[in-house]
Amino acid sequence: MEMNIALLPGDGIGPEVIAQAVKVVKAVGNKFGHTIHFEEAPVGATAIDLTGDPYPDATHEVCLRADAVLFGAIGDPKYDNDPKSKVRPEQGLLRMRQKLGLFANVRPTFTFPSLIHKSPLKLERVEGVDFVFFRELTGGVYFGEPRGRNEQGTKAFDTNVYSKEEITRLARMGFEAAQKRKKLLTCVDKANVLATSRLWRETVQELAPEYPDVKVEYEFVDAVAMRLIQWPKAYDVLITENLFGDILTDEASVISGSMGLMPSASLGTENKLFEPIHGSYPQAAGKDIANPLATVLSAAMMFDYAFGLKAEAQTITDVVNKSLAEGVVTEDIAEGGKAYKTSEVGDWLAENV
Ligand code: IPM
Ligand code: MN
Repeated sequence: MEMNIALLPGDGIGPEVIAQAVKVVKAVGNKFGHTIHFEEAPVGATAIDLTGDPYPDATHEVCLRADAVLFGAIGDPKYDNDPKSKVRPEQGLLRMRQKLGLFANVRPTFTFPSLIHKSPLKLERVEGVDFVFFRELTGGVYFGEPRGRNEQGTKAFDTNVYSKEEITRLARMGFEAAQKRKKLLTCVDKANVLATSRLWRETVQELAPEYPDVKVEYEFVDAVAMRLIQWPKAYDVLITENLFGDILTDEASVISGSMGLMPSASLGTENKLFEPIHGSYPQAAGKDIANPLATVLSAAMMFDYAFGLKAEAQTITDVVNKSLAEGVVTEDIAEGGKAYKTSEVGDWLAENV
């Protein structure tokens, strides 16, 4: 197969971890006989420094041309401490999601046996955890209008808006994923208070008869925040709106003890983007110490979700498991064993594909 992959390394450790994923993707391409073209473009603070814009038009063009986008991380502390700064790296991320139509953010939580003791939860609660969030990514309070302040600047407002169509397309992805998994779908909302949540619930209830093999549960977001800690094994596929999903997927990302390893996908009808769940980790930038495995596993998701190539995806997951088992890992998970450099882990993975 011929594949065009856009590389958006972004900020902080982004370039280093993307470089390792590229090594692995190339090795998989060689092994399975694929021709893979890469095209790189700036995003985030890096793009602001170069062009003044965190998501330049030229970068958007590169993404549109590609079959899939591999994304590193964005964010730079120099913007975090300046709430008045006019351009911010995060604006680039939000504009990119919107312009590429990436309405579904897929964030899995699963365990790696060799890391499970790092979970903040008791072993018996977390062993075997395997669920996935489908977070709506281009609607809700992140994008709703009006937003802003009154004239005096003494009141601020954001608007949460959802259309039936936005809910339906996200929910369908959730139903279809559940059909291929444990056939349980949880709709996470706040229907006891919010009009938008009532539309979510109503829409999901209307769709449910089309997926008779899927059991649907409806839970309030506050209860899910609690139950994710108490009974994480009770979940399979969870669907939810943008803001609830932002919060809950951060909670979810740490419960397996493998935060540095969790990949994600952001999917639209035309475009597909893959990125690690962790951030830009500016303190480690340029030091060759960051853990590249989440980005490498995001590349595995890319083979699966963007190209339907399951054997290629599995090859990557297997080699990551092998590196964990053999202790070829970065300092964050080395636990007294040898700490390999980011680039050494990437080289080892590529050689062992
Ligand atoms: C995420 C991030 C972003 C979000 C920020 C950086 C805008 O937290 O991808 O979850 O809130 O969506
Ligand atoms: Mn977030």
